[in-house]
Amino acid sequence: MSGEREQLNGTRGYAAEADTLAHQYESLTSEQVLGDVLHLIPEKPGRVLDIGAGTGRDAAALALRGHSVTAVEPTAELRAHGRRLHPRAGIEWLDDTLPALPAVEGTFDLVLLVAVWMHLDPDERRPAMRRLAGLLAPEGVLLLTLRHGPPPPGRHMFDIPADEPVAQAASSGLHAVHQSTWDDLLGRPGVRWTTLAFRQG
Ligand SMILES: C[S@@+](CC[C@H](N)C(=O)[O-])C[C@H]1O[C@@H](n2cnc3c(N)ncnc32)[C@H](O)[C@@H]1O
Repeated sequence: MSGEREQLNGTRGYAAEADTLAHQYESLTSEQVLGDVLHLIPEKPGRVLDIGAGTGRDAAALALRGHSVTAVEPTAELRAHGRRLHPRAGIEWLDDTLPALPAVEGTFDLVLLVAVWMHLDPDERRPAMRRLAGLLAPEGVLLLTLRHGPPPPGRHMFDIPADEPVAQAASSGLHAVHQSTWDDLLGRPGVRWTTLAFRQG
């Protein structure tokens, strides 16, 4: 298994920096990160899938809203921080990866990818979008954020224009219901973000 993990490009750099990143991720609130799309988060308690959940900041906030949250995080060091920081949140943690997500079962009312999509290789993104579409409940919402600008040193990251996931989602039967662009909340020079939301149909 560890050999398999060493080949996962998207997680490059995360294990070694997990302690620093845990502070950084938890210095923001979920409300700040999801501010543009809070109105799209289902009010009724349902099933939420947070993919690339990091330390579980968003997973914990959604669990607090009454949702049953599955947090997928392939970096063991970040999962460990998540369990330590949010021990009573009732989050189910899974070690799994896009594009296939073999350990994830069922459908979800909300699928969340905050700062994850840009780690996927070009040939992984289309199958990943198909998998996400299959994980959405009929009235479900898919939220994802994309980072633009210079990547942190040592990371495997692409500056993906929003048009690409919008087109891939359309090919998988999803339509965009939200698109916004915002400045980096941590003030990193040249860094901007796009938030996208999709529904079935
Ligand atoms: C920038 S962090 C974001 C963490 C968290 N969502 C947040 O906003 O604080 C990106 C996360 O994506 C995870 N990741 C990278 N490649 C992935 C893949 N192929 N499948 C699932 N997660 C992945 C990394 O391990 C890392 O935790």
